[in-house]
Amino acid sequence: MIVAVATQKGGSAKTTTVVNLGAALAASGRRTLIMDLDGQGHASYWLLGTEGRHRGPFVHDWLEGRAAADDVVRATHWSHLDVVPANLAINALRDQLEAARRASARRLLAERLRGLRDRYSWILLDCPAGLNALAVNALVAAEGVLIPVAPPEPLALDGALHLLQTVERITQATPPGPRLLGVLVANTQPRRAAERRHVDRLRARGLPILASQIPTSARVATAAAAHRPLVAHAPSSPAAAAYRELAAELSILVERHAA
Ligand SMILES: Nc1ncnc2c1ncn2[C@@H]1O[C@H](COP(=O)(O)OP(=O)(O)OP(=O)(O)O)[C@@H](O)[C@H]1O
Ligand SMILES: [Mg+2]
Repeated sequence: MIVAVATQKGGSAKTTTVVNLGAALAASGRRTLIMDLDGQGHASYWLLGTEGRHRGPFVHDWLEGRAAADDVVRATHWSHLDVVPANLAINALRDQLEAARRASARRLLAERLRGLRDRYSWILLDCPAGLNALAVNALVAAEGVLIPVAPPEPLALDGALHLLQTVERITQATPPGPRLLGVLVANTQPRRAAERRHVDRLRARGLPILASQIPTSARVATAAAAHRPLVAHAPSSPAAAAYRELAAELSILVERHAA
């Protein structure tokens, strides 16, 4: 299952979700690949550390045909979990894809992923914020999309609704388009009535809100600084438990759909 984790708004727990959901899926024995598509390289930083993230080849080398899949995929310290790193140089490719305006420019990632998808149960695409050509490539390549709303507040809701409009356009242009796996409420303090009201507003619009919600946790920042996913860094923390629950919820959702 190729899943794009995307939303219009920056700083909405996309990378946090990709890294920690990916690690939870891998810990449950599912072969998982995390693909960093953001020039910031935050997923690469989190999983490979400051030195590891500077060593290429990078995702743009593979997309441009200069590196083979075997060279760009990097093992992590955790079983069943691999990562394809990104660095700032991906932004030149983004600009080329944006200038190209050909339909094939939107399908570059989808085409390249054909050679990788059978090796993994899950491929999680960490999208950049906004809806640039790299995010569009991810949505075209994805079979599923997960939209984090984190924390649940009006601008995050707006970002989720924007993303949904883009998914609809992509579905019309290149059917069948990705299936909406759900909206993930993250970095949340559910005791706050205002947050609950915002989530209810999304539900009232008919959006599927995943049952698993990720609480706000100081462990997220310490895990990133330690270059370890939550399930390894603070396995008994409520946030790590929530990511394990999310992995189980999505696995059931996808496996039931496939049956
Ligand atoms: N559950 C959580 N508890 C506390 N802080 C969190 C939680 N989830 C995410 N954050 C914090 O929110 C910030 C944004 O998270 P993250 O980098 O994952 O977002 P993003 O959507 O990938 O951002 P960008 O658009 O820059 O790629 C980070 O500082 C992260 O540590
Ligand atoms: Mg990010």
